[in-house]
Amino acid sequence: MLTKHLVRLIAPVFFLLGQPHFAGAAEEALKIGLIIPLTGGQASTGKQLANAVKLYMSENGDVVAGRKIEVIVRDDAAIPENTKRIAQELIVNDKVGIIAGFGITPAALAAAPLATQARIPEIVMLAGTSIITERSPYIVRTSFTLAQSSVIIGDWAAKNAIRKVATLTTDYAPGNDALQFFKARFLAGGGEIVDEVKVPLVNPDFAPFLQRMKDAKPDALYVFVPGGQGGNFMKQFSERGLDKAGIKIIGPGDVMDDDLLNNMGDAALGAVTAHMYSAAHKSPKNAAFVAAYRKMFASRPGFVAVGGYDGIHLIYQALKKTGGKSDGDALVDAMKGMTWESPRGPVSIDPATRDIVQNIYIRKVEKVDGELYNVEFKTFEAVKDPGKTSP
Ligand code: PHB
Repeated sequence: MLTKHLVRLIAPVFFLLGQPHFAGAAEEALKIGLIIPLTGGQASTGKQLANAVKLYMSENGDVVAGRKIEVIVRDDAAIPENTKRIAQELIVNDKVGIIAGFGITPAALAAAPLATQARIPEIVMLAGTSIITERSPYIVRTSFTLAQSSVIIGDWAAKNAIRKVATLTTDYAPGNDALQFFKARFLAGGGEIVDEVKVPLVNPDFAPFLQRMKDAKPDALYVFVPGGQGGNFMKQFSERGLDKAGIKIIGPGDVMDDDLLNNMGDAALGAVTAHMYSAAHKSPKNAAFVAAYRKMFASRPGFVAVGGYDGIHLIYQALKKTGGKSDGDALVDAMKGMTWESPRGPVSIDPATRDIVQNIYIRKVEKVDGELYNVEFKTFEAVKDPGKTSP
């Protein structure tokens, strides 16, 4: 009885002694504002981000270097005015030390000046336009850039007997990156663009364009739609019979998100895309990640989930490195140059740009054990964002 009592009394002392690097704020929780779309057209991506953060914290606990981690989840519905207002509230009222999430580029950009002003890290877990990390010295990205995958699929298409391509891209910044960087490489490799269509981000109707593209008889359709919209796109693609007409889908991997892929049906078979993650990626780390995600959420993780999982991992690792010190400059410094093994493969944070450096894989949709997967067949190692300079 007495021993039990003693342990209870001295345990906190040992706990504090074990954390030598920080002063007074040791017991204070570190709050992270997770700003993601949980309603509206991009809701499925916000769900993947929230799931991934939850999974990581269930695996790694909620205390890092003596600091309790508290995540405040807020829905911005992928509307940048909401993002800005929510970020402001989180910083001023809730006193968050980090903002994270950001399902679309305009949301990430809307929060950038606030991160700079408050001098706190902004961890971009999904948005993929190259310029984002240039908008604040406090932005660090764990997703990807469209330029990273678009240059690779552009070269691949030109070298693999694809001559005529029609493009369909969502009409906003990442879609424009996807288009420009693809075109630069594909045209340089001798390819020809026979039609170019841009569709709106909100409530896109692809059908009228798809009919026109079918008539143009391209070898392939180059597609960028943001994560979450691939299912609807593929439904209209097969309804219009473009698969039957032998038109191949190529693009960055967003359209073939593993989260939705299995419900797309056989029209998706044979699509070749370049991307940083496939649920079929062969590594023990990924096998464990996919199994744990499936167990917790009864669904398959896609690339969006991996951006979230690595985003919270980066925060944990940085906080360990600073010994629990959470001022923004110290955390961002700790993040620069950090390397780790992600479910997607080896990654690092480029210390010069704060953008992610990662393998890009070319993959083809195939049926494996009765399910559709992006099966990786070529790897480009340690790809930096080519979008920091013009294409
Ligand atoms: C973006 O808005 O930057 C974005 C969103 C989803 C993606 C890619 C880019 O899959």
